[in-house]
Amino acid sequence: MKKIAVLPGDGIGPEIVAEAVKVLNALELEFDMEAAPVGGAAYESHGHPLPESTLKLAQEADAILFGAVGDWKYDKLERALRPEQAILGLRKHLGLFANFRPAICYEQLTHASSLKPELIAGLDILIIRELTGDIYFGQPRGRRTAPDGHFPGAEEAFDTMRYSRPEIERIAHIAFQAARKRSQRVTSVDKSNVLETFQLWKDVVTEVGQQYPDVALDHMYVDNAAMQLVRAPKKFDVVVTGNMFGDILSDEAAMLTGSIGMLPSASLNERGQGLYEPSHGSAPDIAGQGIANPLATILSAAMMLRFSLDQPQAADRIESAVQHVLAQGLRTADIHSDGTTKVGTREMGDAVVAAITTKTITK
Ligand code: IPM
Ligand code: MN
Repeated sequence: MKKIAVLPGDGIGPEIVAEAVKVLNALELEFDMEAAPVGGAAYESHGHPLPESTLKLAQEADAILFGAVGDWKYDKLERALRPEQAILGLRKHLGLFANFRPAICYEQLTHASSLKPELIAGLDILIIRELTGDIYFGQPRGRRTAPDGHFPGAEEAFDTMRYSRPEIERIAHIAFQAARKRSQRVTSVDKSNVLETFQLWKDVVTEVGQQYPDVALDHMYVDNAAMQLVRAPKKFDVVVTGNMFGDILSDEAAMLTGSIGMLPSASLNERGQGLYEPSHGSAPDIAGQGIANPLATILSAAMMLRFSLDQPQAADRIESAVQHVLAQGLRTADIHSDGTTKVGTREMGDAVVAAITTKTITK
């Protein structure tokens, strides 16, 4: 039986994950689901954001359903004990290098975006973010007394941006293969005009692209990409980029769709094992109020069924059910507008379950 590790985490994490689990249960498939603490919650109970037992469960599972981690109250902790280290540690230990962040504008939410409706109607971008390299993980890093520079002798901090050829090759292949299933276009985002790391990135993506003559490749500097995303977002299809640029651009792309509360994500390793989480964070400001949007997590569960659990039809059922509840006019606070019905986290989950179990929705 396939095993799902359920890691709710902090803030709104437990509330939204509970709804996704409810939806998974409604599908009446045979899974073994096991929960474990992660992030600040795990720091409280185990003294570490990623306890050995949680990491072991994640390593043994076929898929991980992850909520969110982080809370301002942990900002003063030493870095190794902060909640964010849990997700970074899982990515690193499991080798989850390929991060898929789709930004899809649902027809019913065209007016929820801060951009003009005509700019985003029908938007469907796939950001592919490299997730285990770059300045996030490069060594050395630290603090010291500056040996040189503008202020020798002053306190300074440094991080290392680095990518190796194989790391770039494998994420480039992922992007080109994804583009083959879509509109045969890849935009590679870099900063090769300034950074050596991203000159190698651009060179390697170009080389890999020659193996995919059917896919059109173009290159864009990250500052320009950030601008084009709000100017003419529909010009993009598959966007492939490094860890840090992908972090920033995926938040930007998410907001184009109206709410980051709608966007799922998948992080895969070379064995097809995956971690599935909403693209948004733990939102401690609204935790415990029952108002968070569970749809990003529910849609992440759909991605999990498709990518790691070999249940594409069940994934389709969830996605259709989400379309259905949006068409019914149900909205959590983040996407609520005049003429729609405001619902809480639990009611939204219940509505998705109802749509799944209703006979009219079979696919
Ligand atoms: C994300 C988050 C993480 C990241 C943080 C929580 C470490 O912002 O998944 O986008 O920067 O990757
Ligand atoms: Mn982020």
